[in-house]
Amino acid sequence: MLKYVFAMDKLRSLDESLARINRDINALLDGVDKAVYDHEKTSFNFMGKAVRSRFTLLFGDALGLERGTAERISAAAELIHTASLLHDDCIDRAALRRGLPTLNESLGINTAILVGDMVVSFAFDYAVKITPDTPGSLVRAVRRMTEGALLEENLRYKNTSAAEAERILQLKTGELFRWCALTACHMAKKPELYEVCGTIGRETGVIFQITDDVLDFEGEAGQTGKDALKDITEGRTTLPLILALNDPRFAVEIKAELTSLKTDLSGNLAPALRIADLVKKNGFCAGARAIAAEKMRSLEKEIARLPERAAAGTFKNYIYALSSRTK
Ligand code: IPE
Ligand code: IPE
Ligand code: MG
Ligand code: MG
Repeated sequence: MLKYVFAMDKLRSLDESLARINRDINALLDGVDKAVYDHEKTSFNFMGKAVRSRFTLLFGDALGLERGTAERISAAAELIHTASLLHDDCIDRAALRRGLPTLNESLGINTAILVGDMVVSFAFDYAVKITPDTPGSLVRAVRRMTEGALLEENLRYKNTSAAEAERILQLKTGELFRWCALTACHMAKKPELYEVCGTIGRETGVIFQITDDVLDFEGEAGQTGKDALKDITEGRTTLPLILALNDPRFAVEIKAELTSLKTDLSGNLAPALRIADLVKKNGFCAGARAIAAEKMRSLEKEIARLPERAAAGTFKNYIYALSSRTK
């Protein structure tokens, strides 16, 4: 019973932290001249599932970091993340985000790019609240995220090795989680855990992105709040597809379908649907999920080094839930 009450208290306090993070993000948007950008008049959501916040808050608890600092790290990360999605949706010409029209869909690509830039500037300004040096580490994380996105862009419609795919996941998604974890470690004054924290952050990002890539094949827009099959239609060779392309039984057929997708500009979805079918039927989504699950298991020894044992257990359960999520 006591354990149950304790768990309920923790959940409540997570909700309270998330509400404060959301409030800070909205205060920044409220401060913008309405003639420049009126966020209340658009239906775009500036916070989604808040995974980076939940990660940082629970990880901070496991390090013994006070919540106020973990909340500020979270808000800065959510701002960078949302800015990266605003730009990602322009690049991918996506129509749906967080269950609502993307900004590029509702207000046009120019506005979406510029609002993304503005939100990046909010993040750096806000990060000063953590320490005066924090914007410096955040800008380096953003540079590495951008490198990951560029490497992915260079590989559109192309095959690569699973190792190179993992490097891209580490950069484009792992870096922001790693920044959250390292900043939490620094603020909790635990320099002896620097390596451990960096690994937990980076690998959580990789696990999370692998699951996202699987959901692009398996999920439905009503469930994920995003366009289905967007990666294939845009020629993005994510891990499930790379596993299939590296299987000699399917390589020739998939390469031919990718070539039709690339060259046929009529918007014909048939090759994308055939690729998706092949990838799912032959167990490559399950294969990618198995890689994420294995990564999760090997993270356990790092998580076991976190000083607050009960909070580390809650954190571990959260990461397990992330690796098996369906939305
Ligand atoms: C989507 O991130 C992009 C990835 C890096 C996988 P989220 O799934 O966290 O998106 P929101 O913030 O909940 O919308
Ligand atoms: C987003 O990844 C890349 C970033 C880390 C910004 P995705 O392209 O997989 O994100 P979704 O699927 O559009 O949310
Ligand atoms: Mg995308
Ligand atoms: Mg995706």
